[in-house]
Amino acid sequence: MQPTAAGAIGVFDSGYGGLTILSSIKALMPEYDYLYLGDNARAPYGSRSFESVYRFTLQAVEWFFSRGCHLVVLACNTASAKALRTIQQRDLPVIDPERRVLGVIRPTTERIAALTTTGHVGVLGTEGTIQSRSYEIEINKLHPQLKVTGEACPMWVPLVENREHDKPGADYFVRQHLEQLLTGDPQIDTIILGCTHYPLLLDKIGQYLPAGIRILTQGNYVSESLKDYLRRHPEMDAKCTKGGTVCYYTTDAPDKFNRLASLFLHEEIAAQQIKLERL
Ligand code: DGL
Repeated sequence: MQPTAAGAIGVFDSGYGGLTILSSIKALMPEYDYLYLGDNARAPYGSRSFESVYRFTLQAVEWFFSRGCHLVVLACNTASAKALRTIQQRDLPVIDPERRVLGVIRPTTERIAALTTTGHVGVLGTEGTIQSRSYEIEINKLHPQLKVTGEACPMWVPLVENREHDKPGADYFVRQHLEQLLTGDPQIDTIILGCTHYPLLLDKIGQYLPAGIRILTQGNYVSESLKDYLRRHPEMDAKCTKGGTVCYYTTDAPDKFNRLASLFLHEEIAAQQIKLERL
């Protein structure tokens, strides 16, 4: 079903990973309209330069705005780490100061202190997210006493994007990065899955995770934070239409997107293809 009016909430990811976030948002707030865009033609973003991730993300945000969205969630840690701050501080005031773009890092970091007992936190993410040190910076702004160790897992997103995440080949890469993280800091008791693709690897992660270590996925934190944001900003809530619809868009072939997205969402979808620029 198509949204009947402008005012859907935009949800963006480089590919399929943001569907894990959309799924939690829809479960908590089914009454809103949503537009999902996966930039599958240019995924993965994780090993791309700051400049490319920023440029691609800004193009996506402008596309959402052109479709009538007032609020866009970057359901992608890499885009949140590398592009969100510049878009919020430099671009939005020029494009339209009334529109908002939110990310996925802050909602997760706000909850972390209550969850760790040792005060040692691990973050698994893409190269871009880990190199940016965004989690460490955001967590230490709120809780300077926490020790944050990051581990980049460059193969994990390709495993998910290629539907290999539940196959035997994934075991090697999952074990390797968990071991490296926990060797780096053996006192870690809480690990943030700082990439929206990684929940698809939860079964494999569970097989290699030592007992007593908690794994955090972001869906619930992001959806609860979005709900809270709309409660605190009734003027934005009033601009978000509530028809209960979701439309899916991809920058790559829709038939492949439909096939794989259905597996992530456990429902059939029919995405449309769009072009963000001359690729
Ligand atoms: N799902 C994204 C994230 O949360 C991006 C992964 C990628 O494209 O490399 O970081």
